[in-house]
Amino acid sequence: MSLIPTMNIGVVGHVDHGKTTLVQALTGQWTARHSEELKKSMTIKLGYANGYISYCRDLEPPEAYGTSTVCPNGEKAEILKSVSYIDAPGHEILMATMLAGSVLMDAALLVIAANEPCPQPQTQEHLAALEIIGLNQLIVVQNKVDTVDKEQAKKNYKQIVDFISTTRFSKAPIIPVSALHKVNIDVLALAMYKLFKEPERILGKPGLMLIARSFDVNPPGTPPERLVGGVVGGGVIRGEIDIDDEIEIKPGVRIEEKGGKVRYEPLVTRVVSIKYGDIAVDKARPGGLVAIGTTLDPSLTKADRMRGNVLGHNVPDPVNSLVIEYRLFEKIAGIKGYEKMEPIKSREPIIITIGTMVGMGIVTKATSDMLEVTMREPVVVYQDRATVAISRNIKGRWRLAGWGYVKA
Ligand code: GTP
Ligand code: MG
Ligand code: MG
Repeated sequence: MSLIPTMNIGVVGHVDHGKTTLVQALTGQWTARHSEELKKSMTIKLGYANGYISYCRDLEPPEAYGTSTVCPNGEKAEILKSVSYIDAPGHEILMATMLAGSVLMDAALLVIAANEPCPQPQTQEHLAALEIIGLNQLIVVQNKVDTVDKEQAKKNYKQIVDFISTTRFSKAPIIPVSALHKVNIDVLALAMYKLFKEPERILGKPGLMLIARSFDVNPPGTPPERLVGGVVGGGVIRGEIDIDDEIEIKPGVRIEEKGGKVRYEPLVTRVVSIKYGDIAVDKARPGGLVAIGTTLDPSLTKADRMRGNVLGHNVPDPVNSLVIEYRLFEKIAGIKGYEKMEPIKSREPIIITIGTMVGMGIVTKATSDMLEVTMREPVVVYQDRATVAISRNIKGRWRLAGWGYVKA
């Protein structure tokens, strides 16, 4: 069994319901790394960590299943699956970040805190986002069961059942855990092992990757001759990318010309390193979050500057206008209570998420099932009938409002 992660598991749900704590229980890693995240104890960017689902022969199920490479008796555990977790921020103002990460998820854990009524606004909005991207592998994690008594836990469980029964995930299992005290993590590991299957992958060339993060990995003060090139992180969605390959990144760098005119210049670079977490490899494939080292000037990739770009051997040219076949939700997601969705009107500003790119656009034409949108910045339609999420400004906040496909 190779240790390279083969699938991406999203961890989604309402703010503070325990997503990052759960990822820590599953991987031993705390995904919030930025000083601001640590200060506010809130996930702001997409977090990521690799982990295992493992098996100890000497134990009975569910205890036999776990996430450690070592068994309680000190023997080596059998690694059944190696996965990447994508830890989404739960705060409502960070919905766009969650959406940008959702396209990379092959399966998801919906974390719901047992000590609050269900559904909370982003419990519902995140689940709607998973429905949009066509995700069909979901486990509901009823978290913080250590904070409630048996009656409350049961009542909350019933609310969860009622809530998911109205969605395409009505058959998803609900597993009570305490992420903080690592209770029932074995049952969750067993469920992930049995239920989450790696989707069929397209291999070979050309490869295509959606960039979710980008970094300058050089410590401050590194002398110029020791500088390492820019690093981009994300998921390969089809094909393979090898060390030494020449690759394109589009739309590329934003260049502001004199007079304020903005244009984008595609980048061409070479792959110098490929890493899955700490594991260096010579090939990037679909499944698992990967970091690709390039020969780019690291100032181009620092602080997530390349987020939303598409990388590959043959990346379609970016476009400024989109024709979208779409549907709106019946009600507004992400708020308490019921409010009917109004139709989209011409000249309305909207936010379009396509791949990991989140961009503002203006509707130039709207019918009940078709939108024409002029984007403020160019976007890459990375595949035929690429899925888009549509967010609208509703009472001063951007809300997930519907979804669609880019018409070929
Ligand atoms: P955002 O990223 O801001 O959306 O939050 P989150 O969902 O990642 O929640 P996080 O893991 O940061 O946990 C929020 C708070 O809940 C922290 O104080 C955790 O210690 C606490 N918490 C998480 N899981 C549990 C649990 O199982 N039991 C108890 N008692 N507290 C928990
Ligand atoms: Mg928090
Ligand atoms: Mg978090």
